[in-house]
Amino acid sequence: MISIDVVFNAIKSGFFNDQFRAFTIEEARKVNDYHKSIPFYKETPLISLRELSTYWGISNIFVKDESFRFGLNSFKLLGGSYAIGKLLSSKLKLDCLDFNKIMQERDRIKNLVLTSATDGNHGRGVAWTAEQFGLKSVIYMPKGSAVERIKNIEKHGAKVIVTDLNYDDTIKIVRKDAKKNGWIIVQDTAWEDYEEIPLWIMQGYLTLVYECYCELAKENIVPSHVFLQAGVGAFAGAAAAFFYQVYGDKCKIIIIEPEAAPCLYESIKKGTPQKISGELNTIMAGLACGEVNPIGWEILKNVTSAFIKCKDYLSANGMRILSNPLKNDKRVISGESGAVSIGVLDYLLNSVELKNIKNNLNFSKDTKVLVFSTEGATDYENFEKIIWYGKHYDPNY
Ligand SMILES: Cc1ncc(COP(=O)(O)O)c(C=O)c1O
Repeated sequence: MISIDVVFNAIKSGFFNDQFRAFTIEEARKVNDYHKSIPFYKETPLISLRELSTYWGISNIFVKDESFRFGLNSFKLLGGSYAIGKLLSSKLKLDCLDFNKIMQERDRIKNLVLTSATDGNHGRGVAWTAEQFGLKSVIYMPKGSAVERIKNIEKHGAKVIVTDLNYDDTIKIVRKDAKKNGWIIVQDTAWEDYEEIPLWIMQGYLTLVYECYCELAKENIVPSHVFLQAGVGAFAGAAAAFFYQVYGDKCKIIIIEPEAAPCLYESIKKGTPQKISGELNTIMAGLACGEVNPIGWEILKNVTSAFIKCKDYLSANGMRILSNPLKNDKRVISGESGAVSIGVLDYLLNSVELKNIKNNLNFSKDTKVLVFSTEGATDYENFEKIIWYGKHYDPNY
């Protein structure tokens, strides 16, 4: 049984359309300056898994470990905090974008209410930022959301409403309730007439890729392959736009999605955005999205090499591999949506039946892969079951 499906991008043009301008290196510096103005900002580690890369016959594997981001266990705060910063600065008519300046003026906006739909990570970032500025937040979550993820949002003073719907239908409820109550939506995907905040959220993710770029540039390293996991494709879109501008065709960009929610995979196959409906049942809660972010899609279709959908157990394998490092490699605690790229890389490099795909993607002893562990153990109970007790194992064994 083959556990991944790969579609090579037949419509890749390499063309920079208007969307790319928001993700230049100059924009990335500005975004990073804003994040640096947040008192607890600290760059997250970029870990080189030397032993693992030797074991797998490639040159290097770099893992950006976002479990350390602002103590919130995922990269997601970068998007929400930047968008809210831009929003509040504009409401307050401030002449620069600075966390402390907004803090000083926050009394003037204290009646604003922020709302959003989330699988957990984005909502936690919105709730955390609202809390800093003394604003109320109402966060909606899809059915089946993990208790730990709900509690982590409530901790920041947010009201959490768990719906009996999937993620995409939960967004529809947010739109209805926000309109009724005059709340501001801070959503990490766009729709018609709602593009400014989602674009800011995507720009917020630039800090993460900019940190990687600067760190690798110190040793003149250009990764040959970047793996980006996708839900709606906002993170992947921002990262792909940035990397394609700085590295061009020297670096292949590969998108990974769960088999149960492959909206980008299906879209690239057909050449236009496709919706996936239904339960979207996957352990990768952050990637359980059935509708693409239109801004992300316009970027990804132009610059990515391949789209992969994979079985859940590969993400569980990725979690186990990162949590049990070889010899001198560092341990990375990675959650379901964070570890999938390592699980897929293992499968691609080490499965005899994927030899042709491996060759088509140009994997060789010189390959340097960059992956993003976008979350830590955000649902610890499940993390323990997977790491200690082997839940979600390879059905071929
Ligand atoms: C941990 C994690 N990784 C990746 C993603 C994917 O981001 P996007 O929905 O922008 O594709 C998410 C989304 O919530 C996430 O929580």
